[in-house]
Amino acid sequence: MSKNILVAVAWPYASGSRHLGHIGGAYLPADIFARYHRVVGNNVLMVSGSDVHGTPITVRADAEGVEPIDIVNKYHNEFLGYWEKLGISWDNYTTTMTDTHIEVVHDIFNKLLEKGFIDKQKSLQAYDPGENKFLPDRYVEGTCPYCSYSEARGDQCDSCSKTLDPEELINPISKISGNKAEFKETEHFFLKLSLLEDQLASWLDEKEGWRPHVINWAKSFVKDGLQDRAITRDLDWGIEIPVDDLGSGKKIYVWFEAVIGYLSASKEWAKNKGNEKEWTEWWNNESAGTYYFIGKDNVPFHAVIWPSILLAYEGLNLPTNVPANQYILVKGEKASASRGVGKTLQEYLDEWNPDALRYALASALPEQSDTEISEDEMIRRNNEELVAAWGNLVQRVFTQIQNNFSKISEIDEADEVDKKLLKEMSESYDIVGQLIEKVELKAALQESMRYVSKVNGYLNETEPWKVIKEDEKRAGRILYTALEAIDSCANLLYPFMPSTSDLVRSAIPRETENLWGLNKIKTGVELKEIGLLFNKFD
Ligand code: MF3
Ligand code: ZN
Repeated sequence: MSKNILVAVAWPYASGSRHLGHIGGAYLPADIFARYHRVVGNNVLMVSGSDVHGTPITVRADAEGVEPIDIVNKYHNEFLGYWEKLGISWDNYTTTMTDTHIEVVHDIFNKLLEKGFIDKQKSLQAYDPGENKFLPDRYVEGTCPYCSYSEARGDQCDSCSKTLDPEELINPISKISGNKAEFKETEHFFLKLSLLEDQLASWLDEKEGWRPHVINWAKSFVKDGLQDRAITRDLDWGIEIPVDDLGSGKKIYVWFEAVIGYLSASKEWAKNKGNEKEWTEWWNNESAGTYYFIGKDNVPFHAVIWPSILLAYEGLNLPTNVPANQYILVKGEKASASRGVGKTLQEYLDEWNPDALRYALASALPEQSDTEISEDEMIRRNNEELVAAWGNLVQRVFTQIQNNFSKISEIDEADEVDKKLLKEMSESYDIVGQLIEKVELKAALQESMRYVSKVNGYLNETEPWKVIKEDEKRAGRILYTALEAIDSCANLLYPFMPSTSDLVRSAIPRETENLWGLNKIKTGVELKEIGLLFNKFD
């Protein structure tokens, strides 16, 4: 029975280049998960897009003296290049400035307004008296009231990850001018999270199998009491509010609309496919699974606020799981190109085989805790694990077959040792598959590589290069068995390293075409040439 799986991935701000932390944090794990579900025959819809609104974009545009749209176009195009190069297999990668997105945001806003989940409230907003401007939350900086970090922003503290309101900051200052920020009254629409607290708490209580750091964080957030949150702002750059009660100069807040992107990107995908209703298979069908791949700084928005919007709207699936990752640390700091920590992603893409980069990152996914990554360690993994274990295995079996037999040998009865290896290989799929389904991807990769080691161990034990001198037939059988096992390893490794697995599999003539299961290899035909899979770094 095939299942429908929505793979929803954090929308990157089109405000600057991405870095390794972003890729390991959300895009790569999502792609591994999506590719696995496709090969086992599930219907995957993997969506995201560039988040084009919000202060990261306007700050950048102001700093460069250009318009926000110029920044957005530049980085959106840059991102498309990353996905292509890294093989991130989107079903729809779009933006938050499409007509569909705006329509869907307006529909949700209007429905929630009509149902009483949105109302108008007066509140205090940070104001820069020198510049005569209301300040977006991110433009206010001060000391975090929870952990005393001195550079907390008005929307969030990067040190303890708490979401903040600017008036909670101690000694708030304007980032535009350095002036002391004042607070002035302004009127906005609010999402009445307070009305949804009980429903949300019982929904979270039922959740099983979530990562402890995600579920604990979400539950404690709700336990602290859900406050109504402003979902409009004093801004020029953003989506229009669909009703004009507030006068001009106000827009929908990015954090209300960006999360709606998962739904609008699904609708847009269906529309582009010419089957307008097909998105409902992932959003209304209760047997569908919906997985949100995000970094931990996005947990409040995906485990609390987006589910609240969905509860208020009614009828759409809430997240099945939010497998948020912690941070990838470069020399102990959160990897961040914007703060100038670590090499840029482009530099890695220029120097690395994309699959080797995927491997090095997938081996260090910060699933449970912040994870240190260094270039030395990545290079070591490339050289000692990929090149030495996997690349060499493929190379040596291919060359031995090609040098000793012009064709893959007709095979004899298998020996015990052959049967044992193939039995283990056929059992590997459930083991690795279950880990991937639980989103334990780092463990799934380790487990897959254990099978690569088993094949190496099998060759060391059977020594076909010696056997061939006395018993050509037996040597042929050993190499045939190794080839079948290699084909299987390529299947197991496909979600992690799709291009090299495709390369290996397309060089091996198969009788069956299982993408997730053991195959029978053809005999009496030639093995195709295969080049080097990976290069060693000096
Ligand atoms: N652009 C935001 C960020 O990078 C939001 C990502 S997820 C979204 O933190 F669903 F809210 F868009
Ligand atoms: Zn803090």
